[in-house]
Amino acid sequence: MKYAQIAGWGMYVPSTVITNDAFVRMGLDTSEDWITSRTGIEQRFLVGLDEATSDMAVKAGLHALSMAEMHGREIDLVIVATCTPDHVMPSTAAIVQNRLGADGAGALDINAACAGFVYALNMATGQIESGRATNVLVIGADELSIYLNWKDRNTCILFGDGAGAVILKASDEPGIMSSTMGSDGSGAGLLTIPGGGSRFRTNGNGRKPANSYLTMNGPQVFRWATQMMTSAAERVIASSSLKPEEIDLFIPHQANLRIIEATAKRLGLDPEKVFANVDRYGNTSAASIPIAICEALDQGLIHVGDNIVLTSFGAGLSWAAVAVRWTAPVPERRSPWVPFRQSLETRVAAVRSVLRRQQRRVGTVIDERLRRD
Ligand code: UT7
Repeated sequence: MKYAQIAGWGMYVPSTVITNDAFVRMGLDTSEDWITSRTGIEQRFLVGLDEATSDMAVKAGLHALSMAEMHGREIDLVIVATCTPDHVMPSTAAIVQNRLGADGAGALDINAACAGFVYALNMATGQIESGRATNVLVIGADELSIYLNWKDRNTCILFGDGAGAVILKASDEPGIMSSTMGSDGSGAGLLTIPGGGSRFRTNGNGRKPANSYLTMNGPQVFRWATQMMTSAAERVIASSSLKPEEIDLFIPHQANLRIIEATAKRLGLDPEKVFANVDRYGNTSAASIPIAICEALDQGLIHVGDNIVLTSFGAGLSWAAVAVRWTAPVPERRSPWVPFRQSLETRVAAVRSVLRRQQRRVGTVIDERLRRD
């Protein structure tokens, strides 16, 4: 029996910081105090005009590869959890796979909105446990800011952009101990970006004009989220044969500090065992849990042998949880050669990608000539 262990991790957030006072300055009917007291959010990072989801995902993926001391070509599968892909097709994962030089890897996106990363972790674990993959790069990356209505105070204050990644590798010891996933599509309308898909078409062939803004029934999502995060966490704690007091760190989806605190209270966890960084990032959707993992590691809150519970919820409605036994030692410092080697590798991957495109073009020309002759 093979198990999946986390062997590397990495995160990336864009450089533009938006603090709560910016919303007041731009004329939104809100206040710094309302945002901080009702959500716990103090700032968030937003992408610039030219930064796509794959750009953030590649940067997080590179960090994760260097932590795991792996090359892109050692990866068997790239999964990107995102609800804000670069394009409807191809998948964002395919773009990331190419840019990381992960030549031997399959690649696909998973959309379970904010729950996407934990869903993807679950899928990756299945691939490893079944022996179909040895090393899987799992990335959560979202830039929901591009779908926000900056005049809607119910939503625009909540979200930030970012990406986080982990490398899962096969091992004889667990790793990922247990997991659960769930969905309740009866709540699909509670949190949605209606446009951009096949229901409301954007290219002029549509039946109705598209609304591509994120809309949400905040109070209903809030109530449901607290219940589902609690029950999903309870399920993975029980199926890992752990007692709640054996949980060393609880890392919930970072959407609202009040949801995090209410969930932790229902689970009976001590506040110091609950990780929160929603104050600095807002809700980064599928990136929230891997970013939280990276920060918890940076802050020395995770040690080898620790039991960690990850739990998330999002549009769908969807939810997922995973219990992890932490196994990877946290390196004191990275080799100075790693960034150099990685930059070389991504350049080589870019050149290889251009050569492949040229090769395809030349192949097509030769085929056409041969057909004509
Ligand atoms: O990854 C999943 C993403 N979604 C979530 O996690 C969202 C979950 N829900 C929430 O986090 C909370 O429901 C919100 C933060 C969205 C809202 O907080 P709330 O305590 O549930 O407030 P509410 O929606 O019940 O609104 C209370 C009042 C309303 O005014 P009235 O009708 O009482 O006059 C809102 O219009 O607060 C008003 N309000 C605001 N006031 C100032 C809503 N947003 C704002 C705002 N500034 N930004």
